[in-house]
Amino acid sequence: MAATQTAKPKPKTTKAKNSAKTPAKTPKNSRLEIKVESADITGIDTPALVVNLFRGVKKPGGATGAVDEALDGAITQLIEDGEIKGATGETTLIHTFGRIKPKRVLVLGLGPKDKFDAQVVRRVSAEVVRFLRRKGISRAVTIAHGAGIGGLDPQQSGQAIAEGTHLGLYRFGAYQSNYSESTTEFEKLTVVELDKTRAKSIEAGVKLGSTVAQACIVARDMVNEPANHMTPSRMADAALKVAKDQGLKIQVLDNPEMKKMGMGAFMGVAQGTDEPAKLIVIRYDGDPANPENNLGLIGKGITFDTGGISLKPPGGMEAMKGDMAGGASVIAAMQIIGQTKPKINVLAVIAATENMPGPSAQRPGDVVRAMNGKTIEVINTDAEGRLVLADALCYAREQGITKLVDVATLTGAMVTTLGKACTGVMGNDDTLIQQTIDAGKKTGEKFWQLPMFDEYKDLIKSDVADMKNSGGRQAGSISAALLLAEFVDGAAWVHLDIAGTSTSDKVSGYLVRGATGVPVRTLAQLAMDLAEAASPKKSGSRAKAK
Ligand code: BES
Ligand code: MN
Ligand code: ZN
Repeated sequence: MAATQTAKPKPKTTKAKNSAKTPAKTPKNSRLEIKVESADITGIDTPALVVNLFRGVKKPGGATGAVDEALDGAITQLIEDGEIKGATGETTLIHTFGRIKPKRVLVLGLGPKDKFDAQVVRRVSAEVVRFLRRKGISRAVTIAHGAGIGGLDPQQSGQAIAEGTHLGLYRFGAYQSNYSESTTEFEKLTVVELDKTRAKSIEAGVKLGSTVAQACIVARDMVNEPANHMTPSRMADAALKVAKDQGLKIQVLDNPEMKKMGMGAFMGVAQGTDEPAKLIVIRYDGDPANPENNLGLIGKGITFDTGGISLKPPGGMEAMKGDMAGGASVIAAMQIIGQTKPKINVLAVIAATENMPGPSAQRPGDVVRAMNGKTIEVINTDAEGRLVLADALCYAREQGITKLVDVATLTGAMVTTLGKACTGVMGNDDTLIQQTIDAGKKTGEKFWQLPMFDEYKDLIKSDVADMKNSGGRQAGSISAALLLAEFVDGAAWVHLDIAGTSTSDKVSGYLVRGATGVPVRTLAQLAMDLAEAASPKKSGSRAKAK
């Protein structure tokens, strides 16, 4: 394992100052309020009361049963009639016409009980508020899904409800002139739980879930923002805002500084555009007494990828405004980390530039030298992500980082291999890989590991340099990762290829069309899990021996 360096003194570290031209407008659904109350549900005056039902249940119990009784068995009747099945996300609206205080009861399907977990709660919570919004209903009261016979603890349920609600209502309407008049917004969800202690736990969960979801939305906004607005400088502004709000240290390095540091691989990409490149460095010192207890989050921030001189075909090129999703998710994860304050030091490094075919653009065949002295033959200028990440990884190592996680929309091959259901994971350290996958199990973000066998190394052998930046058509995601592996200098390292998962092509559960915010929640969860593993609070630590 790598020699542990202590963090070097860092030049020009500043506390973030307010930035005048932060691009992101307030997301509309930031108006959304989620409250927790301790009350009896049938007596609440609300436009809609949300209750739930597992699949196959003939006679509802618990809160749903109480409502059913108050409605003289209306829900049981609808189940008998086959109209309510309890399928996941199924929504059945019943008007109460004054029989109970709530004007409507909405029966939400939770699906089969044996498949139920927090992820189901996130998904159905999103479906139900979108359903209400379509109906023009802006307020509702809900029971805490899964906190009863579902077996979730109340805090987990509260967190999942908040995440699903915020993320499911998300819309990017920044550039549509008649956007605000066109629809009602959903404004207020009240989670009701009779028991006061349980209500307190739900409330803590709702608070954490809202924090986490709002950070995801920061990432979604950045990714959805068109590239003429979300330039590298604007990414730096967004990072400055996060750092200022959370009291984190931030440095933004510009082209001359990066050239001086020997970032030839990054600068090779950046020379194709007039738009200044930025290396954005954010520091969270959660365990200053133990500098070796650290995590580096490295993000690809290509604000637009034309392919450069190896120009991409025009069809679908507009999607390449999202080629900074890795960088956006790292910035957003720092917002959560700044709020949840895990006992670990986290360094975020985002390499931001455009990949353009300007008059000074690099050419296929050029050889560039990264910060660690290694040379790369640029076979294809469209394989730019690995070039900028090479220097970002070197930088993080120079800062003494011993655990690295990079996040990048790195290869089209990833979309071919795993589609949009899960993120591809590669790396050199089985423990850190497993910790990442496990963090994903908690957040509901899915990961799948790909191999890094030595046999693949031949793919990036170059005749003229230490390696080449394109391995051709075979194992495209793996050969890209193998290039990155040359720049981690023995540190534990995980690479997340989010080319498929950073955007969604459909509305489904808490995802909507466009940016997903993946893997923001998992990055923050990993930081918390690593902090916990390094200094377990009490017995029952699940830290695994290596
Ligand atoms: N940003 C792209 C990868 C990508 C493709 C992300 C589709 C999201 C959706 C990356 O920079 C790229 O162009 N990769 C090339 C690499 C090749 C030239 C070796 C690719 O995947 O085709
Ligand atoms: Mn590219
Ligand atoms: Zn790219």
